Amino acid sequence: MSKLPDPSVNVIFGGTGDLARRKLLPALVHLAKGGHVDPRCRVLAVAIEDLDDVGYRSLARDALAVAGVTAADAALLCGESMHYHCIGKGAAADFAALAARLTALEQAHDLPGNRAFYLALPPQVFVSTVEGLGNAGLASSPGWTRIIVEKPFGRDLASAETLNRQVHRFYGESQIYRIDHYLGKETVQNLMVLRFANTIFESVWNRDRVEAVQITVAEDLGVGTRAGYYDRSGGAIRDMLQNHLTQLFTLVAMEIPSAYEADSIRYEKIKVLRSTRPIAPAGVVRGRYGAGTIGGQAVPGYLEEVGIEPDSRTETFVALELYVDNWRWSGVPFYLRTGKRMGKTLSQIAVRLRSTPAALFDSFGAKHETADTLIISLQPEAGFSLHFDVKVPGAPFRTQRMPLDFRYDHHFPPMPEAYETLLLDVLEGDQTLFVHADEVEQSWRLYSSVIATPTPLRDYPAGTWGPPEADHLAIPDTDLWQETWTGKR
Ligand code: BG6
Repeated sequence: MSKLPDPSVNVIFGGTGDLARRKLLPALVHLAKGGHVDPRCRVLAVAIEDLDDVGYRSLARDALAVAGVTAADAALLCGESMHYHCIGKGAAADFAALAARLTALEQAHDLPGNRAFYLALPPQVFVSTVEGLGNAGLASSPGWTRIIVEKPFGRDLASAETLNRQVHRFYGESQIYRIDHYLGKETVQNLMVLRFANTIFESVWNRDRVEAVQITVAEDLGVGTRAGYYDRSGGAIRDMLQNHLTQLFTLVAMEIPSAYEADSIRYEKIKVLRSTRPIAPAGVVRGRYGAGTIGGQAVPGYLEEVGIEPDSRTETFVALELYVDNWRWSGVPFYLRTGKRMGKTLSQIAVRLRSTPAALFDSFGAKHETADTLIISLQPEAGFSLHFDVKVPGAPFRTQRMPLDFRYDHHFPPMPEAYETLLLDVLEGDQTLFVHADEVEQSWRLYSSVIATPTPLRDYPAGTWGPPEADHLAIPDTDLWQETWTGKR
């Protein structure tokens, strides 16, 4: 087994909240179970509720049960090593009390002063918490101090710049771990292995061989219980495009980093964003779902969801076209598409190769079967399939598109949850899978025009693949939305 990360106190702000309950606590249990946590580590949950250690342990056990963790596994986390601290109104004295509590815990348990602060908090209390920590002297410690923050990192370029400045007043960039949970997905990391560990793919990964790239993150769910927040602060552009899809885009388009480590990879991703052409309004379609049917069930439209303002103009779908003006990608369209209440949940990257220069077999197969396509599937199935033409045995002479498949679940045990991977990286001090301040700003800069001058909102019925106006923002002559592992189109 690899070396254990240094023992630390893992402080969870928002310890009673949804993110802690659903993601952080289960991830910490899995890490403990996997033997990745030093037995001296402590969890210190922080929130405004008036609880003590025993009360929080019981809340955590209940939350873990709801998250599907067995009582035996929950006991690995929710015993004597789990603590709770009430932050009161979040005044300076409250943060000073937190600092004293931390020191006391470290002394009592012979810990070297390593601290990870997870800010599992709503955006409106984010800055005041960072300031509270910083002013209480909690930006440094005798060991390491790391701060873990969740999206949204601002809601446009100006607010992202302000946010970065506010956090940088207290914490250096090497202390800040900005989570984009897509980066913690195994298949997203596999994208780099696929590209850089196999000559076959990297040798065709350029404008000479690639006709178009299509990145799709479709969800069949609607906005559900987050409706109010999504309507005010989200929308498909802010909630998905600026972060998750843009991460996938930069990983597909980036140059080969000089090493598999944080600075080299982040540097290459930032270069992609800098080389991306400003977005033309004609290349953007926004949509909003209306009532429809999903899996045989009638579902309401966006405006009928509880918590949505009747005059809302928030989009639940966006499709657009990007061009990277560099030597590798000049002229190759990248189609990015994401939406809620789509026909099914599916995240995939399709890389369509150019057709053969001479169409020797055109009359023997369907037209679209002349170009090979690599499908990298992130979810629900994880793996990839390369679709190419083969001769159908016997006469008459015919060609048929067939897939060459690799699926993770056929070869490996279930994959760790993204949060498990990311939290372990925090404890190990590895920022490779976290987002740099410059990346955040460049990404908002790219979408500034789309946010400032929204294109018309097009309706689509729930359960479909978005508004027909977006159909041209996809690889032509194919039905990749419907791609399946059986190779059927
Ligand atoms: C979140 C968005 O960041 O990602 C949600 O805020 C979205 O709206 C979710 O549903 C999708 O994540 P995943 O891992 O289920 O694809």
